[in-house]
Amino acid sequence: MDSNYSIYNGDCLAWFKEYKENNIDLTFLDPPFNQNKEYRYFNDNLSENEYWQFMLTALKEIYRLSKPGASIYFMQREKNTQFVLESLKNAGWTFHNLIIWKKKTSAVPCKNKFSKSYQIIAYATKGTKPTTFNKLRISPPLPAHYKYERKNGLYLTDVWDDIRELTSGYFASEEAIRNKDNSRFHKQQTPIALLLRILLSSSKRGDLILDPFAGTGTTLVTAFQLDRKSIGIEIDPKNIACITSRLNHISKGDRINKYLDDYKYTQNLHCLLKETTPVKTEPHQPLFQKTLV
Ligand SMILES: C[S@@+](CC[C@H](N)C(=O)[O-])C[C@H]1O[C@@H](n2cnc3c(N)ncnc32)[C@H](O)[C@@H]1O
Repeated sequence: MDSNYSIYNGDCLAWFKEYKENNIDLTFLDPPFNQNKEYRYFNDNLSENEYWQFMLTALKEIYRLSKPGASIYFMQREKNTQFVLESLKNAGWTFHNLIIWKKKTSAVPCKNKFSKSYQIIAYATKGTKPTTFNKLRISPPLPAHYKYERKNGLYLTDVWDDIRELTSGYFASEEAIRNKDNSRFHKQQTPIALLLRILLSSSKRGDLILDPFAGTGTTLVTAFQLDRKSIGIEIDPKNIACITSRLNHISKGDRINKYLDDYKYTQNLHCLLKETTPVKTEPHQPLFQKTLV
């Protein structure tokens, strides 16, 4: 790979067959969810069996192309949890966490069951131990009844409730890519903040990140800013043009810098970032200092 990223237009299953290396350190897998939506370049209405066969083949191929100790983050709808865990296992991956990405937006109302407010992200590795796992610390607001200030933040858990989905409305912010008529360019555009968290947790500078369903290229845009190499495969040429333009000019909405303060209590944060990224970190303080109110 000559440059920091490579973008391929086509079917990822065909790409997997052609790729001869086994040098992938981390994969973000965010496939179409088979929701019977109208797409020009792929069928979003496969039978359940066909869809999960497709996912299993992808997971097996990624496993083959990954280094020992590599990680995968597989994003899916919560109703598919059982299939996600089964396919990861059948493809050889070792499962570690089921991350709940609780959207900050309102829940999707359902008729005969609880309203839906989260998506799942299964984290697994090739082999029992990850080569890289950086324990990030974050500093969420204190619950109202807490007596003690957290001096060093806390370790990130498997519930991620602080990252806003890029919805169509007001909260989509300047990050959401828009058409001329202001409609969203890609309804499944993943927030930069989510990829930043995944890449900071499971990769280091110079690692090779794979996104087989690249969409608008959020993974590549994040990897580029963190000094990681990346490969993106995307079937729709319209999206390929979007990825190229996002990478040619990192827009204000795409910049990772505004999220770095969230991780200021992470030890050696600067080692996880591009050498030139200015970071503010907080020195570690003794735990449990009484809050003055
Ligand atoms: C859920 S979206 C990914 C969104 C992405 N995470 C982002 O931030 O924009 C899934 C993408 O997979 C693409 N796709 C569908 N089938 C594909 C295939 N067989 N190979 C490669 N890309 C495919 C779709 O065009 C769509 O853009």
